[in-house]
Amino acid sequence: MTNIDLIKRHADALPGNAPLNCVLCPRLVDFRNQNIEKFPDFFNGPVPAFGASNAELLIVGLAPGLKGANRTGRPFTGDYAGDLLYPTLIKFGFAKGTYGSSIDDGLTLDRAIITNAVRCVPPQNKTIGEEERNCRPYLIEQIEKLPTIRLILALGLVAHNAVLSTYGEKKSAFKFGHNKTHELSNGLMLIDSYHCSRYNTNTGRLTTEMFEAVFETIVAKLK
Ligand code: URA
Repeated sequence: MTNIDLIKRHADALPGNAPLNCVLCPRLVDFRNQNIEKFPDFFNGPVPAFGASNAELLIVGLAPGLKGANRTGRPFTGDYAGDLLYPTLIKFGFAKGTYGSSIDDGLTLDRAIITNAVRCVPPQNKTIGEEERNCRPYLIEQIEKLPTIRLILALGLVAHNAVLSTYGEKKSAFKFGHNKTHELSNGLMLIDSYHCSRYNTNTGRLTTEMFEAVFETIVAKLK
């Protein structure tokens, strides 16, 4: 099976994925076309969510990394952020197998799904408001059609704000804070973490201990 078959299988397995030829964001489509020329072997499309359809935990990242998820077609796969996220998921019982940095490593998620606030790789790893708004209907559909979700982990401020906007919550009422739990009006829990990016770990903003502390909270909340 080629990787594109695996990516399509992921896209079909869960609701709320952008079509692989999505054209909602001109800047991102432009960047995609440049990347198709430059890196013809990369996936270069909106990366589908990955995980279990009966998930209790939804993890929302920012957007695919150029040489990570945009290359491999699976969120957080193939770049530094995944090197911290996936082993942590295995350690806390939300993933089974061995993380091998590629979509065909055989890793499966258990009671968890990983998605992104913006599904296409942005230039310089920075999304803009219009792209976050354009992509929101996919996140809304994903959450609405997955009724077993009880807790959402937002990796970084963009993901935190995307979740609040999804539910029409006031941002001033839910200030971002690492390892902070918010009770949303609809009864769902939102937990924040600093994004597990290389930048954040290199600068010491996020340590492995701090990231694992978030998962300790998640496990306790889901009991
Ligand atoms: N890879 C993703 O899929 N999302 C992120 O937020 C970072 C890396």
